[in-house]
Amino acid sequence: MTHAACQFVTPLCFQALSGHPVHTELLDSNQEQSMGHIHLARWADCLVIAPATANRMAKMAQGIADDLLSTLYLAAECPVWLAPAMNQAMWRHPATQRNLKTLQEDGVKIIGPASGEQACGELGPGRLSEPSEICAAVLASKPVQTEPALKILITAGPTREALDPVRFISNRSSGKMGYALASAAIAAGAEVTLVSGPVNIPAPAVKRLIQVESAQQMHDAVMANIANQAIVIGCAAVADYRPAQFSSQKIKKTEQNFDSSLQLTRNPDIIASVAALDHRPFTVGFAAETQDVEDYALSKLRSKGLDMIAANQVGLTAGGFDSEQNALKVFWPEGEHDLGMTDKQTLAKQLLALIIEKYHEKNST
Ligand code: C5P
Repeated sequence: MTHAACQFVTPLCFQALSGHPVHTELLDSNQEQSMGHIHLARWADCLVIAPATANRMAKMAQGIADDLLSTLYLAAECPVWLAPAMNQAMWRHPATQRNLKTLQEDGVKIIGPASGEQACGELGPGRLSEPSEICAAVLASKPVQTEPALKILITAGPTREALDPVRFISNRSSGKMGYALASAAIAAGAEVTLVSGPVNIPAPAVKRLIQVESAQQMHDAVMANIANQAIVIGCAAVADYRPAQFSSQKIKKTEQNFDSSLQLTRNPDIIASVAALDHRPFTVGFAAETQDVEDYALSKLRSKGLDMIAANQVGLTAGGFDSEQNALKVFWPEGEHDLGMTDKQTLAKQLLALIIEKYHEKNST
C-alpha cells in the first residue's frame, strides 16, 4: 500500500481481510528483515497496481523510485498490470497520455479505465475498472495449460479431538504452510484437493475444499478422495491420540472423587495409511520436531514408508507453528536438500518444485 492508499483504507483492514502482511515502507528495518523490496519483487508472479493515480503513472514512466511501490516496479521482472483511476480531465491530459504511451512501450499492460460517473461528480473516462474485470484480465493472461493437471491432495491445519460438546484437545498449527502449499500448487497448474482442519485463514481457490475437525474425519476425507491423486502432502498437524470416551453431555466439575486422568486412544496415521496403499501416490510427510530433527525425520521417512519428508524445528525461537517464516530440511531415500529460512509462501513454492521434480523422477524410472 502507498501512503496515499493508507489514508483511504488502513493496512490493518487489508491484513485482516487477506490474511497476509501488508507492506508500506521502502526502508523498514522489520520488513527488510522478513522480506525486503527486492525479495518482494522476486516473490511475486505478477504485479497489479490498482488503483493507479496520474502521479503513480508519471513516476513509473520516469523510473522514479522513491517509495516501496515505485521501487518494486523497477525491481520487478514479472508481468506488470496497471488499472488507472483518476479524474477524467487528468486522464485526458497530454502528460498522462504521454506517460501511458511510455508505460505501454515499456511492456506494462493497462486495464481500463472505465467511463462513467466519477467520485468528484464529473462524467468521463477514469473510473477504476471493476475488481472482477481486473482479476479476469490478469488470470486470462496465464499460459494455457497443455498437459493434464497434476492432482495433488494436501492436508493442513490442526485436528480437534473432542472430549465433550465444548472441549477438545488440539495443537498450535495455523494451517499457513499447508495453505501456502495449496496456493503454490494452484499456481503450478495442479488440481488441488485441500483437506483442512479448523484454521483462521482464508482458503485458496482450490478445486475441492473439505473441512474437517477430527483426525478420524481427516482420515476418512483423505481416503474418500485418494483415487487418481498423483501426490499427497501431509502437512496437517494430526493429533496422534483422541480421548477414549466422548461425553455427549458437558463434563461437570466435581469436587469429590476427582479423577484427573484422561484415557486416550490412538488415531489412525493418515499419511502412513496413504503410503501403504497398493497404488499409492507420491507421498510426502512433514516432521515438526523440537530436537534431533534429522534423526527423527529420517526414522519417520522409513517407518511411515514415505517418498519424502520435510522437517522443521518448532519451538519458541525457531519458525514453524503459527509463524510467518519457516526453514525446512527435506529428505528422500536417496538424498536431502536444505530450504533456508524464508516466508512460508516462498518456502512452499520451493518445496513444491522439489516434490514435483522427485515425483517425475520416480515415475520415469
Ligand atoms: O508422527 P508425526 O505426527 O510426527 O508425523 C508427522 C507426519 O505424519 C505429518 O506429515 C502428519 O501430517 C502425518 N500424520 C498423519 N496422521 C497422524 C499423525 C501424523 O497423517 N495420525
